[in-house]
Amino acid sequence: MKFLLALPLPLHLPALPRLASLALAFVCALAVTSPAARGQNGRMSTAQPPIVIAHRGASGYRPEHTLEAYRLAIEMGADFIEPDLVATRDGHLVARHEPNITLTTDVAQRPEFAARRTTKTIDGQQETGWFTTDFTLAELRTLRAVQPREYRSKQYDGQFGVPTLEEIIGLAQRESRARGRTIGIYPETKHPAWHRAEGLALEPPLLEALERAGWNRRESPVYVQSFEAGNLQWLRTRTPLRLVQLLPADAVVDFAAIAAYADAVGPDKQLVAGTRFIELAHAAGLAVHAWTFRNEPLHLAERYAGDPKAEYAEYFALGIDGVFSDFTDTAVAARAEFSAAGK
Ligand code: G3P
Ligand code: CA
Repeated sequence: MKFLLALPLPLHLPALPRLASLALAFVCALAVTSPAARGQNGRMSTAQPPIVIAHRGASGYRPEHTLEAYRLAIEMGADFIEPDLVATRDGHLVARHEPNITLTTDVAQRPEFAARRTTKTIDGQQETGWFTTDFTLAELRTLRAVQPREYRSKQYDGQFGVPTLEEIIGLAQRESRARGRTIGIYPETKHPAWHRAEGLALEPPLLEALERAGWNRRESPVYVQSFEAGNLQWLRTRTPLRLVQLLPADAVVDFAAIAAYADAVGPDKQLVAGTRFIELAHAAGLAVHAWTFRNEPLHLAERYAGDPKAEYAEYFALGIDGVFSDFTDTAVAARAEFSAAGK
């Protein structure tokens, strides 16, 4: 049986040039044969429940990408904490959603850095503000994180710094030992081709940091994710770590092509509900970790009637292998309820 999952090209994606260059401008047909390694509920392995990935930490409760946001997520039961990675001017990797730190730090209120305000074009998008690549790590350490979303509490603004990758790995490893359970990391390379062109490639320092931490084997509790295929393919030849191809809502997906270099796909959840996405990904041997689950009513479809756990339950029933959530506690509770219901 053939199935065609043909959706519009991701025109808004800054990473599109790399995606296209890697033949992700594909309309693809996938031969569906057997259920591969799927379990009875469609999950890749029924021995393991779906993983909960703390998206930017417990970012529903604390400023995103801070050690405190990650620590709270771990307390709440996250299996993985998710740092988005960008580079500093002196080549360190830090956790920020993008190189532009105007909205996620207090940099705009810091007169000593006023002259650093500039305009850059990153993956075709012109942006004005302050960028990590213009700051040394020592300078970035003087900044404080703030809550970028208007509808979330700003009570923790100004309290926490910008963490390095090494600090995040250290936190996960310390907490794993202290709690007697494994907490992994799920780093995303942000704008990797742009960083490489700036002379600040993300991948070598990422692999070096993981190597130093002893997380350099396939079974290490690490997934490396990216919207760009090029850096994942580069990584595939250099590390056995599990790799994840991220997919925007309007991606046109060739599961077989992705399975040649990745172990999982990270789709916008809109790609998954009401489609055969999970079935097809699993048939290609790819796990599915969807994003982003959020409690706030403005992020919930009407059919969940304001109940975020109803959304998780729907995706768990579909056989999802993992969820990225801003609200780790809700995701963990929803998973427990789903499991208790014997589903
Ligand atoms: O990393 C998974 C997904 O969250 C990608 O989106 O923009 O939150 O990094 P973003
Ligand atoms: Ca991310």
